[in-house]
Amino acid sequence: MKFFVDTADVKEIRDLAATGLVDGVTTNPSLIAKSGRRFLDVVAEIASIVPGPVSAEVAATDHPTMLAEGRKLAKIAPNIAVKVPLTVDGLKTCKVLSDGGTMVNVTLCFSAAQALLAAKAGASFISPFVGRLDDISAPGMELIADICQIYRQYPHFKTEVLVASIRHPLHVVDAAKLGAHVSTLPPNVLRQLFAHPLTDKGLAAFLADWASTGQSILEEPIEDRRALAQAR
Ligand code: G3P
Repeated sequence: MKFFVDTADVKEIRDLAATGLVDGVTTNPSLIAKSGRRFLDVVAEIASIVPGPVSAEVAATDHPTMLAEGRKLAKIAPNIAVKVPLTVDGLKTCKVLSDGGTMVNVTLCFSAAQALLAAKAGASFISPFVGRLDDISAPGMELIADICQIYRQYPHFKTEVLVASIRHPLHVVDAAKLGAHVSTLPPNVLRQLFAHPLTDKGLAAFLADWASTGQSILEEPIEDRRALAQAR
């Protein structure tokens, strides 16, 4: 599963990219507004930090203007994925951009029928919002299951399921069990994936027992048998 970070906070992106576990970034107009920065500047900076797909969403809702905005966004960097909403005009724009070789992330997906349309429009990614469905007591993960099942019937579909609106680690685990290609994670959720109290407890016990030996790995001499074996 690929992990994208769902934020326009460049400090967070730099910090998490340093783990080597970040495969891309998704932004949206709300995340851009939260950053307080000029959209085109922050997208360009993010695209320079993370080599994987960086989603930048158009603001227009009519096809001609969406297409003009999408073509401009795609010029910012080779790894820009133009984000369009799942509307008629959004999918018309998706078709033209994807036919022209531009990555397109179709967002605000809330039904399997919408996801089928996005795949037919040649989307690189479909972004079903699991958290917002859960928020209204609709089973968001069932949508992921339906989309994955449908896409598996058509191997020629190139669209990757990019699970979005993630609220907690179990969304990631359940999406991975279903074979979703990507999870886009708020920074706090990505950090939560590492955490387990038994890991902390076990490490503390290992460190205490190691300290009792009075030894130091770096200070003790060794014979470099690996170099000797490679030299033979
Ligand atoms: O960026 C798309 C999606 O991840 C937004 O999630 O938390 O606003 O429902 P959220």
